[in-house]
Amino acid sequence: MTKEINGYVSDLPEGCITETDIFTETGVLLCPKMTLIDERLLHSLRAYKGKIHVTVTYMDIPVNTEIETDESLDFSESMKAYALENITTICANVDNPQVLTDSVTNMSNEISNVIHNSKSLGINLSKLKISDEYTYKHSVDVGTISGLIAAKMGESEQFIHDVTMAGILHDIGKEKIPLEIINKPDKLNDIEFKIIKMHPVYGYQILSQCHDISEEIRQGVLNHHENMDSSGYPRHLDMGKIGKMGQILAIADVFDALTTARPYKTAKTPAQSIEIMFSMMNKFNITIFKTFLDIVTAYPNGSTVHLNGGLAGTVIRQNKSYPLRPVVQVGNDIIDLSNDMRYLSTIIVE
Ligand SMILES: [Fe+2]
Repeated sequence: MTKEINGYVSDLPEGCITETDIFTETGVLLCPKMTLIDERLLHSLRAYKGKIHVTVTYMDIPVNTEIETDESLDFSESMKAYALENITTICANVDNPQVLTDSVTNMSNEISNVIHNSKSLGINLSKLKISDEYTYKHSVDVGTISGLIAAKMGESEQFIHDVTMAGILHDIGKEKIPLEIINKPDKLNDIEFKIIKMHPVYGYQILSQCHDISEEIRQGVLNHHENMDSSGYPRHLDMGKIGKMGQILAIADVFDALTTARPYKTAKTPAQSIEIMFSMMNKFNITIFKTFLDIVTAYPNGSTVHLNGGLAGTVIRQNKSYPLRPVVQVGNDIIDLSNDMRYLSTIIVE
């Protein structure tokens, strides 16, 4: 099939052969005729952002427009009910170390088993949702996201289990903070803020009574608000002292907090949350943050997105390295947002 292209490099079909030379707008030869435009060449040609005019031939192989199966982690309804029951028991038994330990161990076992048996390590928040109640939802989400990050990092089964447990328990210290501060719809005053910043310490103290919970898990809970630039709390630790578990929990916690509504703020979409997290990157371990980006689904397959210019499309597959730039079908066109320069502005899920 022969096609004349008056457009941009992004319009070149991969695998085509140029019938004519390609010149830049200033007349510089970009690519001679009879060149196979393979993936590698296409990648380097994309550095040129101007217009091109070329005739190409290519095999007319139908493009796969099927929506790829969303392989993100999914909890069964019975699993969600089990998680809700356990987290309720955990929060109600902060002064009963044995009951707390048994419940969180059971729950961590179940969640890490689901992670272990999952075909693909991915996060789709709508599938994780177990409850609208913040504490329950947030605890399970942070445990699950932390476990998924650790699994993607290639950590041992024991570590995946333990970081899941630390995620479930990360805010357990809030049980010692007065509810009127926890649920205050207005901005906290300085004293209230100081009190709430004590919750990692209270969490560590509660878990110190649970002899079957390891010191690494306790330290993870204590350090989940520490930042790599030493701006965190309660101890303003340097990056070398925070520990891997605390660094994983910090990323999972910020993402889940941003995507969850609270009395004083609306929920951000996963995509908006990732954009915000990019602006906070100096606070995170970059390697762990990249792993997180690898598993998070900002725009789930099948969701509707609006592109700049008013076009509406359907997400058909993900670009793993670019969670904010999926492949979208608009009418009969397949648009890969990771390399299509026409659609650089933010896209919005309907
Ligand atoms: Fe916290």
